[in-house]
Amino acid sequence: MRVVMVGTGYVGLVSGTCLSEVGHNVACVDLNEEKIKLLKDGTSPIYEPGLENLIRRNMEHDRLTFTTRISEVLGNADVAFIAVGTPEGEDGSADVRYVEAVAESIGKLVERNLMVVVKSTVPVGTCDLVEETIQKQLAQRQSNVKVTVASNPEFLKEGDAIGDFMKPDRIIVGLNDPEGQAVFRDLYGPFVLDDQGKLLFMDRRSSELTKYGANSMLATRISFMNELSLLCERLGADIDKVRQGIGTDPRIGKKFLYAGPGYGGSCFPKDVAALLKTGEKNAVELEVLNAVTRANVAQKNRAADKIIAHFKDLNGKRIAVWGLAFKPGTDDVREAPAKTIIQKLLDQGAYVVAHDPQGQGNFAREFGDHERLVYADSSYEALRGADAMVLVTEWSEYRRPNWDKAADMMAGKVVFDLRNQYQSQELHDRGYHYECMGRPDSKLLS
Ligand SMILES: NC(=O)c1ccc[n+]([C@@H]2O[C@H](COP(=O)([O-])OP(=O)(O)OC[C@H]3O[C@@H](n4cnc5c(N)ncnc54)[C@H](O)[C@@H]3O)[C@@H](O)[C@H]2O)c1
Repeated sequence: MRVVMVGTGYVGLVSGTCLSEVGHNVACVDLNEEKIKLLKDGTSPIYEPGLENLIRRNMEHDRLTFTTRISEVLGNADVAFIAVGTPEGEDGSADVRYVEAVAESIGKLVERNLMVVVKSTVPVGTCDLVEETIQKQLAQRQSNVKVTVASNPEFLKEGDAIGDFMKPDRIIVGLNDPEGQAVFRDLYGPFVLDDQGKLLFMDRRSSELTKYGANSMLATRISFMNELSLLCERLGADIDKVRQGIGTDPRIGKKFLYAGPGYGGSCFPKDVAALLKTGEKNAVELEVLNAVTRANVAQKNRAADKIIAHFKDLNGKRIAVWGLAFKPGTDDVREAPAKTIIQKLLDQGAYVVAHDPQGQGNFAREFGDHERLVYADSSYEALRGADAMVLVTEWSEYRRPNWDKAADMMAGKVVFDLRNQYQSQELHDRGYHYECMGRPDSKLLS
């Protein structure tokens, strides 16, 4: 099939590339000229494991192209995806203006029957808006082209996005007219060869809400476990044992039960906020989600408060921070817990030396300059002269540090492990002060 993918970010670029990998002909469109220039040279503007090789291979086979102009590629398309950003607006609701702008361009330019697929995460009713926007343009130019609008939210995880797209757990498609199903069987057939039942068709509104429901459920699990970890600290219980005990119940399952410094990223915070707003607009109070948000804000602060409580006075202290991206495997730092933590440390007068294998550039751009914040070339370099190390993101290269080497480089032997990656005994044996999240050796916060 001939596919146009509008929006070449974390979702659009991975989706477009994977669709080309199974043989579709994909043209990716983005307004950002710098991104398109890099992509035309075969360079990925984002870090996602395996993506650059896949892009190059499909470009070489002439199945994947890049442009800044939708007008150059829409004429031939069977399917046009909208995968642009839907950031959090001022009042918490999702800002769909970029989606609307793409719909307007499609309405102005489309010359043959087309399936328009909204892949961005959008509030319920946005597909209706997209349809109206396109129909308005078609009516203005008295065109009788048939445009169908479908919802197809994306569930990939940054850091493992290619695996998720190539081997999906399910693909949700929202269509108001079942006639459109054939297009999706053709488009996604190669991804569900093992089980065609993974292609779940439903109405558009249910599909739009499914995405928010899924992300909000996952955020709820994280906030719940973080609160339980605080209780563990107070009671002398171990959150890792409790997690194993809970997660082995098949009704609950093992995933998304890890205590940490709070959830971040480009999706959970904004999607929870947007669903809360949807509830408010429809006079449904989503009390659970309100609590989930409050618990998450508290958790990010609590992580920093552990460090502040230990030193009492952070003025002039040098703190090494390992991990800036909101999770390992990505350079995405949007809403990353590291931002809250580093800001609080700086506010208390600390010097911060930060390291991240992929996220330093984005972090520096988004966080901005600060006279007491610097970046290190390597994780060990960040430790030089540090009074403490804080593990914020559990990149694999941080999982097994050489503690003797670290001790030689650090001024103080203090470790805050916000991801419960290290063994307390090992650190205690080497004379470190060690704190983690919700395990028995976590220092009680009064
Ligand atoms: N990042 C994730 O892990 C993830 C996962 C699932 C769903 N989503 C959802 O997918 C959507 C996209 O997210 P993302 O992380 O890929 O965003 P992103 O910010 O990485 O990329 C969006 C891209 O759209 C481009 N764009 C904006 N307006 C445009 C226009 N009119 N024409 C062409 N290009 C335009 C921007 O330049 C940008 O490159 C969001 O709704 C998000 O909530 C994201």
